[in-house]
Amino acid sequence: MVVATMVEVNRRLVASRGGTGHKRRMQPREHVAQLFAATDLPDSAALHFPYQGGLDYLIGGEVRRWTGPSAPVLSPVCRTVDGVVRRQELGPTALLSREVGLEALASARQAYDRGRGHWPTMRVQERIACLGAFVVEMKQAREDSVRLLMWEIAKSRADAEKEFDRTVRYIEDTITAQKELDRKDSRFASQESFVAQIRRAPLGVVLCMGPFNYPLNETFTTLIPALLMGNTVVCKLPRFGMLSQAPLLHAFATAFPPGVVNVLSGDGATVVGPVMESGDVAALAFIGSSHVANLLRRQHPRPNRLRCVLGLEAKNPAIILADADLDLAVQECVVGALSFNGQRCTGLKLLFVHRSVAEAFVAKLAAAVEALPLGLPWQPGVKLTPLPEHDKPARLSSLVADAVALGAKVCNPSGGVTNESFYFPSVVYPVDARMRLYHEEQFGPVLPVSPFDDVAEVVDAIVASDYGQQASIFGRSPSVVGPLVDLLANQVCRVNLNAQCQRGPDVFPFTGRKDSAESTLSVTDALRCFSIRSMVAAPDSSQNQTLLRDILQTRSSNFVNTDYLF
Ligand code: G3H
Repeated sequence: MVVATMVEVNRRLVASRGGTGHKRRMQPREHVAQLFAATDLPDSAALHFPYQGGLDYLIGGEVRRWTGPSAPVLSPVCRTVDGVVRRQELGPTALLSREVGLEALASARQAYDRGRGHWPTMRVQERIACLGAFVVEMKQAREDSVRLLMWEIAKSRADAEKEFDRTVRYIEDTITAQKELDRKDSRFASQESFVAQIRRAPLGVVLCMGPFNYPLNETFTTLIPALLMGNTVVCKLPRFGMLSQAPLLHAFATAFPPGVVNVLSGDGATVVGPVMESGDVAALAFIGSSHVANLLRRQHPRPNRLRCVLGLEAKNPAIILADADLDLAVQECVVGALSFNGQRCTGLKLLFVHRSVAEAFVAKLAAAVEALPLGLPWQPGVKLTPLPEHDKPARLSSLVADAVALGAKVCNPSGGVTNESFYFPSVVYPVDARMRLYHEEQFGPVLPVSPFDDVAEVVDAIVASDYGQQASIFGRSPSVVGPLVDLLANQVCRVNLNAQCQRGPDVFPFTGRKDSAESTLSVTDALRCFSIRSMVAAPDSSQNQTLLRDILQTRSSNFVNTDYLF
């Protein structure tokens, strides 16, 4: 456990207003200014500094501690020392070398052994048993992982716990889905005098790279199905949020055969570049920017051998129609735009509002945003927290300044108030196509509101956009909403009615068009992404029937089996 008695420096670290008997609600501006004033840190956030887990990596079934170059992990949570507000240093992260990246690849390649390794030829039942053992171990690391998520990316405790629990559930649901898939595939097909068993087989070495905003969940939504289908994996952890995986490395090492899972951290170009250039990666699972995805894909010398599973940028719009329930629309837009401070690929990033209700909507939205509780991740009920990306407050300010210079206004009194890593959300109105906020993904707490007269203008904007993940429609009239759904269904991959955009439930297909995604993820779709159909077929003669029956009875094949049929 990393959780333990704190060192004295942590004792006086940060403001701890929530749950400490504080009565008067401070104005946001005042609260932002005092956010990092030093007071007691609650025991529920205690962590040993410097935390050393960031130096650990996993290769060939062995957790190793790196002694080479490292970089400090700086928390979005700051402390005030001698009147200066600075990010708290959490500990070092390993800057692994090119050689270590290639060693991890060699380890995964050896475990796969061009499809002849123990893992890719194992019975599905046995792989499921390894996953089951991993989940048992993983659950032990919950509190450590949650605390690291709070410190490293300032995810609130409630959201960090949700991310962890959702990930455990995702693994359990994936195991159930795999059994069901295997059960269906166990039936022999009989067609045109052939008898066949058609299954899904692994692809090879998969390179998994998750994002900083859901470092655990989104990494695991590709890593787990890739493993379960019999692939071996090299996982490169994200720039921020990598510490939350450190407590899980030993679980990987004990639950899986050596080389099946390899986990690295460090500079992507150094560690991952050579891995892609080797041509030995069969599938790239990447969640991040299309710029980096394209770089990685181009590094592969034989792109015809590379399958890509990508989750990329998005600029999901909400369309608030004239007859919308404004209170509901405001409530959903606040959650949709500001959950985890707007750092979600599924976040609502542009709010189109019919001009007849635009001012009323903006007034309600501004009031709702002003009322959101801000604070540090461990404070109960907190909704707004500091931002991990160092340049983010400056970038958000520049997007808002661009809109203001072109005639928009910040409509909430605390909008844009900043303190080092903290940025209070801005409601910006009226936003139009000349402004960067209309086109660029802000990935942070800024809510651009754009008025429209005719919904056709909105559809044109969505058609012209580079992105195509999801959209939300708020309205009541079937004669307006119905045709709008028809238009949007060919532009995005999920149309939400009177609700924010979101990925869940995780059994639903999650994907996007244009620069937003490639391939479809969900509990079941991901199993397909990381596998290929492979089959055994034979003329339906009595000799072949006897042969297949004997193979099943003697269990001489792992591929031909009926383990989950009954
Ligand atoms: O950042 C993208 C996440 O997958 C979003 O998931 O919509 O459930 O928050 P969510």
